[in-house]
Parts: sequence; structure tokens; C-alpha cells
Amino acid sequence: MLRGQERRLIPCRNIQDAKHEQDPSAFPSTGRVAYYMDPKDILAFSRLEDDGFRVGVIYHSHPDHGPYFSETDRRQALSDGEPNYPGVTYVVMSVVSRTLKAVAAYNWNPERRTFDRIDQGDLVGSPHSPSSRSAALIAASNRVIPGGVNSPVRAFRGVGGEPFFVASAEGARLTDVDGRSYLDFVGSWGPMILGHAARPVVEAVTAAVSRGTSYGAPTPGEVDLAEMITAAYPSMEMVRLVSSGTEATMSAIRLARGATGRDVLLKFDGCYHGHADSLLVKAGSGGATFGIPDSAGVPESLARLTVTTAFNDIAAVRAMFEARGREIAAVIVEPVAGNMGVVPPAPGFLEALRELCTRHGAVLIFDEVITGFRLAFGGAQMKYGVSPDLTCLGKIIGGGLPVGAYGGRRDLMSRIAPLGPVYQAGTLSGNPLAVAAGLATLRALREGEVYRRLDTLGAELERGLLAAAGKAGVPLTVNRVGSMLTGFFTNGPVTDYATAKRSDTARYGRFFHGMLARGVFLAPSQFEAAFVSLAHREADIAAAAEAAAQSMATAH
Ligand SMILES: Cc1ncc(COP(=O)(O)O)c(C=O)c1O
Repeated sequence: MLRGQERRLIPCRNIQDAKHEQDPSAFPSTGRVAYYMDPKDILAFSRLEDDGFRVGVIYHSHPDHGPYFSETDRRQALSDGEPNYPGVTYVVMSVVSRTLKAVAAYNWNPERRTFDRIDQGDLVGSPHSPSSRSAALIAASNRVIPGGVNSPVRAFRGVGGEPFFVASAEGARLTDVDGRSYLDFVGSWGPMILGHAARPVVEAVTAAVSRGTSYGAPTPGEVDLAEMITAAYPSMEMVRLVSSGTEATMSAIRLARGATGRDVLLKFDGCYHGHADSLLVKAGSGGATFGIPDSAGVPESLARLTVTTAFNDIAAVRAMFEARGREIAAVIVEPVAGNMGVVPPAPGFLEALRELCTRHGAVLIFDEVITGFRLAFGGAQMKYGVSPDLTCLGKIIGGGLPVGAYGGRRDLMSRIAPLGPVYQAGTLSGNPLAVAAGLATLRALREGEVYRRLDTLGAELERGLLAAAGKAGVPLTVNRVGSMLTGFFTNGPVTDYATAKRSDTARYGRFFHGMLARGVFLAPSQFEAAFVSLAHREADIAAAAEAAAQSMATAH
């Protein structure tokens, strides 16, 4: 209750149980409408009202999941269709097994004659409630891990708030350490195309782990995986397995420099290729979120060897080649950008890169760490019909275990040690668990019409987001290629990093939290992709669309 700045909290007792003991038939213990306030509490209210207090907030809880304003709540809040307390805010909590699961706030809307949700969603399911296990873990984690996370974007700095900690995942859902469940469109940032804990992957890894976890000597699975990759990517005549996407791109660049005897690398603003020194120049992803495209610790002399132009700007690339063509060892590109949010290549862009690299003797590197086996079994290069000299893979080819790969023309790959002078090595490269998970994943992707299904689900999500934005009058541009998409909070079009940056990132933050509150986990940054997996069902997409409609309405 409120009187000016003064607040009084009145804890109210439910005497339903006592009533039930007195008269079980009139007060059944199974009744859903089972609230009888202790008359002493009612008295406390009216005394305060006599003293000039008014009811400001009413807290009540449901003994199940969901902070919804039920029909029963509505009936109790109204008398003859009018609110008992017109200005009051109802804070609804969902309490399961004595644990607070979710919170939401509602006000009476006299025009619509409904109780409308008024919080941004960030109250709901907030892991910040001091008693939550996520909050305890964040506090502990911050003491021993920089920013509490092992990769910067996980820290939610792009959207505000603190991350939840994951306990487990299955199919299209994550469960956090507080028992909250989220429909997952992050998919571990791309690898989980089959969904979480996909049976073939779990079985393959379980079988592999019982045979030992690493040998430092070659295994048959590595040959199987290399054969599967080279068969799917004709431009990759040979392939080397490494342990991350960063290692793949870093090694491909070293190879390109070693093969051409040139030093300069051309990359595109907003494209992210991992965190190797040469690549942290105008990189997207976490760098985009933090606005630090150039990392501290990258020597200027090295950064000077990386030149950048805008994605999709072929005239700028041509000009760069005209100016420095003899110095450029390689052009590295995400053929569909995913790290400034999703930005597809303009018609002819990839073809023009191919032509310019060939003409100037530079190595064309497609970074398909995200797009490989996601847009098609043969990746973006198959979808767009353009062959690079080298390709980098990661994410999906490890089925959720740490992996990367780079490969390409035989003459180039023959320069890698031990065949040639370009050195690259790795204790855990070709790790048997990662290879088992990757093989199981790729075998599942080879079957049936999986890419058509992924495209259908992606299109459905795109429609849902656009409809939600349209209804809420929120400017939104959705860029989608198959099962990867980004909704940019701008009128668009978004064709490069500069236009991506026109997005209203504060609004994205509110939208993100609205979605999270409604049990939908999107990337905690505007400049990332959402990924649909084969574990998502139509009902999941519909639920996400409904959550988007509600979240957009409050994301103003
Ligand atoms: C296109 C692209 N290349 C490279 C990388 C680096 O991969 P990793 O994080 O496995 O080092 C990423 C990571 O997100 C990526 O999206």
C-alpha cells in the first residue's frame, strides 16, 4: 500500500486450508479457486486505507508455471465488471515447489477493458532474483572468469542484464539451473542443427568415449569425416581438421600468405572470422556489440596488413585490388554474413570476388564456419555456385563438440606441414569425440529433405516476426537465408555493416528480454543470427511468433 513515498507491505494469509478442515464440502481442498483471505489481513488493509494509504500493488502467485493473469484472477479483481482497485498494479508470480519461476505485472486498461501486461518482460523468469541459482553462479563466475563467461557475447552486454546458466538441453529447448525452460534459437551459435542431445550424436559420442578420448595418433573416423567433407565440397580437394573456427581461418590465412608470398588480407566490415590477430579488424559479432572492432593487443603493424571494405560493395573491392593487388594474399568472406546479423550476398558479389581474386592471383577464402552444412549440404558455395580456393568450416561439422576444418585446392593444401613449409598443428586436432559427433550430424543431414524442412521453418519464423512487428507498428527488416535469420529493428534494407548498425539496438534489447521472459532464447545481440534446427516443430515456431507479437508490443 502506498501513501506518497511511503510503502507498506501486507503479507496476506490464505486460510483456505483452515476453512477446508472446518467444512470440507463447502471448501474443497482440490478447488482451483482456493483463496480465502484471513479477515485480520482485510482489517489491516482498511485501517491503512483509513490512514490515507491506497492499494498500489497486489502480489499473487500461481502454483504452476507461467505468470499469466487468469480468468479467476480477473474475476477476483473485478466487481460488476469494474476494477476493485483501478490504479493498482498486479504482480503475478509463478511459484513451483517453493521456487519463484516467473514474474509479470499487469494493469487494468479501461479502454480495452482487459488486464494488460505492462512489464517489459524482463521481470519474468529473471535470473537476477537474488535467490536464483543463476544469480549465485554469476556472482561466483565473475570472481574467477573474466566477465563471468568464456566467450564475450554470452555476457548479455549487448542487451543488458545477466545470463542464465544452462543445466541441460534437449531438442529445441534449454533448461537453466533454476528449472526454467527456453525455446532455443541460438543453437550454440550454429552447431546444433539437429537440435540438442540428438540421439545419433549422443550414441556416437557415448560409443567413442568408451574407446578413449584422445590418442595423438590418426583414427579411421578422421578419414571418414575428411571424405564426407571433400565429397560435399568439390572445391575442397584436401582438408585439415583443427579444433575451432578461429584456428581454421587463422590457418587458411597463413596458408594463403605462405602460398602467395604476399602479406595483405582483405576482409569485409562486420564479418567475423574468429579472434586471430589479423582478423580482429572491423569484425562483427561480439566486436560489433561492444563497438571495439579493433582489439587491444593486436600490434598495429599486424592490423595494418588487414584492409577492409564494405560487404557487398564490389566497386570498393575492385578499387582496393587496383591500388594494392600485388600485395593482397587473400580475400576472406562469410559468403552469407552472419556476424553483423544475417546479410546475404548481393547478386553477383561472390562471383565478382572470384573473378578479381583469380585475375590478381589472390586466394579466395570462404569462411563457411556458420554456413557450411547449414544453407545446403554443400554450403553457401553450392547454393550460390561459386568456388573458393580455400574453405573454412566449424560448428556443424563437430555436432556441438570443438572442431574446425580448412581445406581447398590440392596444390594449396600440399603446402601444409608435413607436405610443405606452412606449419600448422594441434594436440587435439581430429579429436575422436568431435569427429564422432560430426560424422553423426553430417550423416543425419544427408538424409531426406532436411534443407527444405529447415527453409520452411525459417520462412515461418520470418513471417511470424514480420507479422508481429507489423501489428505493433515497429520497423523491422528480416534478412533470412534458409534456417538463419536476423530481424533488424530498422526500416532497412540491411545490405552491409553500416546499414545493420542503423538498427535500434536498445529496442532489440527490450525485445530480447521480452522474448526471454516468454521462454524464447534469441542471441543476446542485434548483430547475430537466429538459427532454426530440425528439432523445432511448427508449434515451436508458432509459440515464438506469439511471444514476438507480445514482446514487440512492449518493445517500444
Ligand atoms: C563465420 C565465423 N568464422 C569463424 C568463427 C570462429 O569460430 P570459433 O568460435 O569456433 O573459433 C565464427 C564464430 O562464431 C564464425 O561465425
